[in-house]
Amino acid sequence: MNTKHSEEMLEVARLALEGKPTDVRLYLAKLVRKARKEDPAYASKLESLLKTDPARSSGILRRSQFGIEEAHNKDEPSLLRTIKRPDEMEPLLDGPLETQLQQILIERQHKEELEAKGLNPSSSIIFQGPPGVGKTMTANWLSQQLGLPLYVLDLTAVMSSLLGKTGSNLRSVLDFAKSHPCVLFLDEIDAIAKRRNDESDVGELKRLVNILLQEIENWPSEGLLIAATNHPELVDPALWRRFDLDVTFCLPDESNIKKAVVKFLGSDFDELAHLVDFLVESQKGESYSNIRRTINKLRKQKLINPLEFEKNSFEQLIPDLNNLSRQERISFAVKLVSDFSFPKQKAAKLLGVSRDTIRKKLSEAQA
Ligand SMILES: Nc1ncnc2c1ncn2[C@@H]1O[C@H](COP(=O)(O)OP(=O)(O)OP(=O)(O)O)[C@@H](O)[C@H]1O
Ligand SMILES: [Mg+2]
Repeated sequence: MNTKHSEEMLEVARLALEGKPTDVRLYLAKLVRKARKEDPAYASKLESLLKTDPARSSGILRRSQFGIEEAHNKDEPSLLRTIKRPDEMEPLLDGPLETQLQQILIERQHKEELEAKGLNPSSSIIFQGPPGVGKTMTANWLSQQLGLPLYVLDLTAVMSSLLGKTGSNLRSVLDFAKSHPCVLFLDEIDAIAKRRNDESDVGELKRLVNILLQEIENWPSEGLLIAATNHPELVDPALWRRFDLDVTFCLPDESNIKKAVVKFLGSDFDELAHLVDFLVESQKGESYSNIRRTINKLRKQKLINPLEFEKNSFEQLIPDLNNLSRQERISFAVKLVSDFSFPKQKAAKLLGVSRDTIRKKLSEAQA
């Protein structure tokens, strides 16, 4: 064994005995890269060892957190997160989106047939869409459907980590993720573009983009690389083109808002069914994430203060409720009854008008 190899052997032994299987993999991935030029046969043997399913051979996927940088410097924050807890809910997806995602899963089931024809299942996807519409949630869901661990790399964090090391940080993460089947989620990929204006970083940024360009195109089809952005216009078109698939997430339309409201109301649905149409109306233009937050708040209030619940929730959903004139209160009560099928008594109490007034207005409107 030459000196170089024995040093490498010692490092592997040290990491293994310290119980750091993630770092062993990281280190080996680095060795593969180095050995490719000097000793391709050795490199490919090492590489195939790295593909051993880690679920069987080590506890790596169960580790709650591992720092991709730990192998190099313990004082730096870890950049890669694992998502351990499965989301209790499936994402709500509109029709075309659902079809696209199902397609990804179906291609995997036909992997061999595809490969026989020289085709590969899609292995790199870019998600675009506003905040809170399910990009992260869907990455998590896909990883569950594929039975693969999910690792999340926030590129904003990578970019704000010490510059000059950014490229090697990213490299380590990508090498690690390629070393075994998994889903790697590159969140906020536009963070790379945002730094482009900073003159001092030009060289480093070019390197970063180049690293990504190569990797996206050659991502192993056993795994899945998903990138996400709220700012598609900032992402380098050369980068964008490399992804096998481009998936667009939108704010929910009225029918999806309704599905979301019903789903998020959960076990409170039966008691609050009369509020559903009104809630849907009040949540137009909101993201799933905001809708969920609003509904959870209402559910908590209902539990804690059931008597004031309806009044409080209306005050919350319509901030200027208390400043309405009498005329406005009457029209609003009528609207609740006619458009949202509210019981007259409830509408009357809520808006401080009499049931008779509502009845009269309703019959006038019908006449
Ligand atoms: N399509 C959806 N179906 C059901 N719930 C959703 C959906 N989208 C978002 N939510 C709710 O909002 C939360 C946040 O969503 P998520 O983190 O996936 O948004 P995102 O699109 O990744 O946003 P960002 O761009 O800010 O990262 C989820 O945990 C879930 O509770
Ligand atoms: Mg997200």
